[in-house]
Amino acid sequence: MLEVNNVGIVFGGLVALDQVNMKVKKGEIHGLIGPNGSGKTTLINVITGFYVPTSGEVKFNGNVISGKSPHLISHAGLGRTFQNINLFPEMSALENVVTARCVHTNYNMLDAVFKTKPFKEQEAEARDKAISQLEFVGLQDDLNTKAKNLPYGKRRLLEIARLLATDPQLVLLDEPVAGMNEQESDEVARIVHKMRDVGGRTILLIEHHMKFVMNLCEQLTVLNSGCVIAEGVPEEIQNNQEVIACYLGKRR
Ligand SMILES: Nc1ncnc2c1ncn2[C@@H]1O[C@H](COP(=O)(O)OP(=O)(O)OP(=O)(O)O)[C@@H](O)[C@H]1O
Ligand SMILES: [Mg+2]
Repeated sequence: MLEVNNVGIVFGGLVALDQVNMKVKKGEIHGLIGPNGSGKTTLINVITGFYVPTSGEVKFNGNVISGKSPHLISHAGLGRTFQNINLFPEMSALENVVTARCVHTNYNMLDAVFKTKPFKEQEAEARDKAISQLEFVGLQDDLNTKAKNLPYGKRRLLEIARLLATDPQLVLLDEPVAGMNEQESDEVARIVHKMRDVGGRTILLIEHHMKFVMNLCEQLTVLNSGCVIAEGVPEEIQNNQEVIACYLGKRR
């Protein structure tokens, strides 16, 4: 589904990604791990069009997407969350999810000003879908709570509901359980499984929480200093000497 081919990116003199290759298969839960500053978020930014790679290309379902705008890439079926929470704090949970759906509405400004039939129909549909996405992540009792008043763990779940609003085939999650307790991260693991098993989505996630990654992911790619140093199933990665030396050794 996703192919990263020889991707490189240079910021000033810093080589943040160097000849990176990665494949994510349809229906897989794939983890991207590596030490701080190894290029994980940068790679997600390249895949989702926030950065244009200096070299190489990214293909999604066989089509080159690198160089396209984040909006077009989102429309093609990729949805992401950010490492730092990225919500509208003064809006309710429901409003946050409804606004995320605007990528899929096709009424124009006049429809909105005059509240025409297509506008009202699409608004109603967006609201119904948003409610079901909030139910999916367990926020059905918080529809009208302002995002800023939700506890941290629920704000992160709201971000997942927001990304589901665009109905992505491929979901990219940047540290979805950072700062969560064990019970909260178990809940996120359950939701990620459900996204794949019920929603039929493919998942690529970055995470430092090793128990979460090793239990949840079926395939892993390891970055170090902008280079892929290992790929394989969790058991192989846990026993890879280079990965242990540069990363896992410090995290056990
Ligand atoms: N826009 C940018 N301009 C300059 N340097 C950048 C930019 N974005 C990322 N970098 C640099 O690229 C390198 C990789 O950063 P990145 O954020 O991708 O790491 P990461 O693996 O996500 O780390 P962490 O686990 O801490 O989130 C770092 O040295 C970072 O400072
Ligand atoms: Mg990062």
